[in-house]
Amino acid sequence: MKILVFGKLGQVGQELGVCLKEYEDAEIIYADRKVANLEHPDECAEVIYLNSPDLIINAAAYTNVEKAEDEEELANIINGHSPTAMAEAAKHIKCPFIHLSTDYVFDGYEKGPKSEDHAVNPLNAYGRSKLLGEVGIVKSNCIFLILRTSWVFSSYGNNFVKNILNASNDNKTLKIVYDQIGGPTSAKSIARAIVAISYKLLDDSSLKGIYHFSGIPDVSWSSFAEAIFQDKGEVQIKKIKTLDYGSRVERPLDSCLDCSKIEKKFGITRPFWKDDLKKVLKELRG
Ligand SMILES: NC(=O)c1ccc[n+]([C@@H]2O[C@H](COP(=O)([O-])OP(=O)(O)OC[C@H]3O[C@@H](n4cnc5c(N)ncnc54)[C@H](OP(=O)(O)O)[C@@H]3O)[C@@H](O)[C@H]2O)c1
Repeated sequence: MKILVFGKLGQVGQELGVCLKEYEDAEIIYADRKVANLEHPDECAEVIYLNSPDLIINAAAYTNVEKAEDEEELANIINGHSPTAMAEAAKHIKCPFIHLSTDYVFDGYEKGPKSEDHAVNPLNAYGRSKLLGEVGIVKSNCIFLILRTSWVFSSYGNNFVKNILNASNDNKTLKIVYDQIGGPTSAKSIARAIVAISYKLLDDSSLKGIYHFSGIPDVSWSSFAEAIFQDKGEVQIKKIKTLDYGSRVERPLDSCLDCSKIEKKFGITRPFWKDDLKKVLKELRG
């Protein structure tokens, strides 16, 4: 099986590489930024036509939520127009297409887990750009699977776990918001879920659609931070309100995802993020 992966060096992209090594029949072709720059949707389609893969996975994205406010047009191209071009090319060559999206397509005004058909209403530029991608992919009518996930962490790249560990080197009291709730999800468990999905989707295209996948249990950022420093007593977590955090970007207060559809259709259950966190902390400590 020839798998074309966009986003080689991202958190999920790197974990996909590790995970797919276990599958002898999987030949991975990476389309990194040098091969296909997502600022140019045509390049993304071209690389698909050139390689004629059996499966396409898009783990590339513009993920800087703060910066997206200033670069919404660029975020729209990378997260909206390029995934749409990928989906259209996938439709043309009848190839299943797996794409990652986000809990930030929701406004989070309503409390409780949101199912896949819950009304979308992104609050920020990043969320709007990801929604643009979702809409384009669905409209292409290719064999798509959009996996909405949340609060991704790993020992790679840029994420909350690594950021607050770094911050704790200079500051022993960290101010973390307590009124935003979601499901921390390891890139490793996302990669595993994608691989499991891939094989089933190749066999049965009627499984196509939008799915939610996030770690369990849902928590606040401050509780997540407390778990990170559980065995490092010298770091104190000071719980603050989102309003007092001072970000100019609005984020959903409750972005908990109802993940029952992926369990029902694929038998994939929500991963326990505390178990994955232990592994990531171990990897980071070397
Ligand atoms: N991070 C989160 O908390 C989170 C939450 C919910 C959903 N998601 C979604 O999950 C997916 C994976 O996220 P992640 O955290 O693994 O992302 P990430 O670590 O930020 O990696 C993003 C990847 O996209 C690539 N990329 C960015 N701009 C590109 C461009 N113009 N051309 C080609 N490649 C480009 C990057 O390449 P370079 O390495 O060359 O820069 C990198 O490999 C994304 O769809 C994201 O929206 C993430």
